[in-house]
Amino acid sequence: MKTQAPIGVLDSGLGGLSVLVALRQRMPAEDFVYCADSGNAPWGERSPDFITQRCDRIVNFLLEQDAKAIVLACNTATAIAAEHLRCWCPVPVIGIEPAVKPAVQSSPSGKIGVLATSRTIESPRYASLLERFAQDAHVISQPAPGLMECVEQGRFDAPSTRSLLSRYLTPMLGAGVDTLVLGCTHYPFLSPVIGELTGNKLRILEPGPAVAKVTRDRLSSTGTLRSGSRQGTETFYIKDVQRFSHTLSLLWPEKRPAHELPV
Ligand code: DGL
Repeated sequence: MKTQAPIGVLDSGLGGLSVLVALRQRMPAEDFVYCADSGNAPWGERSPDFITQRCDRIVNFLLEQDAKAIVLACNTATAIAAEHLRCWCPVPVIGIEPAVKPAVQSSPSGKIGVLATSRTIESPRYASLLERFAQDAHVISQPAPGLMECVEQGRFDAPSTRSLLSRYLTPMLGAGVDTLVLGCTHYPFLSPVIGELTGNKLRILEPGPAVAKVTRDRLSSTGTLRSGSRQGTETFYIKDVQRFSHTLSLLWPEKRPAHELPV
């Protein structure tokens, strides 16, 4: 039993830290190894082959670090590669999907907006999500190229970030949506600005807590959950670590080891 092994977490970049926060809160005793492919991002505009290849390499690297489970802290990677990874990966692979179901269930008007990457929105998996849970709802699915870069570069509140967000959110507000699904793990870091730009009128759904719960339940059911009073650790592997270490320090203020991602 691999109780003491770390949990591997991966994203195209630093957006998955919005998920890591929730994982850390729910599983304080666990160690996490987080991989960010920042030097190759955005994945949201890359081909499915490229994304699958990067996921294969990073998951293999995480298995070399003895990961007992893999969390895909990336909607794009889940949409494109989760099923493929589950075919060969010997440990549980937990994915993340835009929170369409809870949004539809809780929206008073039945009008919801989804902000996600182009690759996520074009994927058959997203189409199936809408078909299963949003038949009776009015959903505005908005691809949001450029937003992840705002986060990767630490431009959370820059004029260019605000104007990009306004461009994506204005049609949703015009259509009367009352609930906004953040379908990319980078976007929760823009929530304060989104709230401001929309007059705090939208309910914003972030995916981290639900994924953390699923991960905990999964480990618990396989008897590999680490508990006790110890404080777990985080170790970061980032593609082009020097270029992105400043943003890492903004998003994860506690000082932790950060290395170059070697794959
Ligand atoms: N953070 C990612 C997601 O959840 C992808 C961002 C990107 O690389 O385009 O979809």
